[in-house]
Amino acid sequence: MSTPSLLILPGDGIGPEVMAEVRRIIDWFGAKRGLPFDVSEDLVGGAAYDAHGTPLTDDTMALAQDADAVLLGAVGGPKYDVLDFSVKPERGLLRLRKEMDLFANLRPAQCFDALADFSSLKRDVVAGLDIMIVRELTSGVYFGEPRGIFEDGNERVGINTQRYTESEIERVARSAFDLAMKRDRKLCSMEKANVMESGVLWREVVTRVGAEYPDVELSHMYADAGAMQLTRWPKQFDVIVTDNLFGDLLSDLAAMLTGSLGMLPSASLGAPMSNGRPKALYEPVHGSAPDIAGQGKANPIACILSFAMALRYSFDQGAEASRLEAAVEHVLAEGHRTADLLGEEGRAPLSTSAMGDAILAALDASV
Ligand code: IPM
Ligand code: MG
Repeated sequence: MSTPSLLILPGDGIGPEVMAEVRRIIDWFGAKRGLPFDVSEDLVGGAAYDAHGTPLTDDTMALAQDADAVLLGAVGGPKYDVLDFSVKPERGLLRLRKEMDLFANLRPAQCFDALADFSSLKRDVVAGLDIMIVRELTSGVYFGEPRGIFEDGNERVGINTQRYTESEIERVARSAFDLAMKRDRKLCSMEKANVMESGVLWREVVTRVGAEYPDVELSHMYADAGAMQLTRWPKQFDVIVTDNLFGDLLSDLAAMLTGSLGMLPSASLGAPMSNGRPKALYEPVHGSAPDIAGQGKANPIACILSFAMALRYSFDQGAEASRLEAAVEHVLAEGHRTADLLGEEGRAPLSTSAMGDAILAALDASV
């Protein structure tokens, strides 16, 4: 088989510095595990806007469509706040998601034991936590029409539309059930069927798909109660499936339970391509962190774990993905910490590249 292609889009803020560490990890798998990748790199977000006046050029979009997988750093920064909505850095990311039709966004929230005391919740509530949020990513209020700011008599009105078709709900539900089958076979679907028609339809379709998965225990929760339950006793959940906006909120909440947003990866998957691999984009859940950009302070782990997800979901290398995840767990257990993982502790933090060094050393030790 030909060498798989990987398009890297470092983006803005801390994106380029965390991605530099990922590139070293990718090279390691090529050199030490016989897993070479054909890597190319391009611009997205503010970086693309600065160079081309658009957050994503058509050329880059075409490269993304052709790549076996895309790995993205982060987009955005205060410098771009003044830009028109249509060219904001975030539009580059949203265009990738929409045009690649990446409808299933997998956001694991896993608590590393070494970091359990870092959570704002008590250790026994979060230790061992391992849940997966499946967020619908290409529809709902993010994309529904009509949208805009319109004149309405003597004032303006801002409009966004929550819209879901049955097939959109069905395909993301199926992704979530398939995942649940590989995990603890428990799926909780979250919407607000008590106030939204789209939520009523969501519940009905998820229930219908559930009939095909008799081994998965399906439950439903209103999304607000879901938020409450996630903070009360998150370990009651295994897989959660929810819409685009609720998923945006609930996945940030779940991420924070684990102690650090800097640790969490994500995968956005679409339909299979002709080579059988799903269309896929991998990115850390954290943002571009402009306040610390360029200082070598950022934690590269979320981005590195995003590459681990790529190994698992795009390249069928589950064992190598586990090797990388174990290396990360090992360095954390040994006490290696970037600044975001130290809080009030007085010791000196590791730099971004020193954390990369530690993970590479752990990988070396694993073979
Ligand atoms: C996320 C982010 C994005 C979103 C932004 C950057 C457009 O918050 O990936 O969760 O709202 O989806
Ligand atoms: Mg978000």
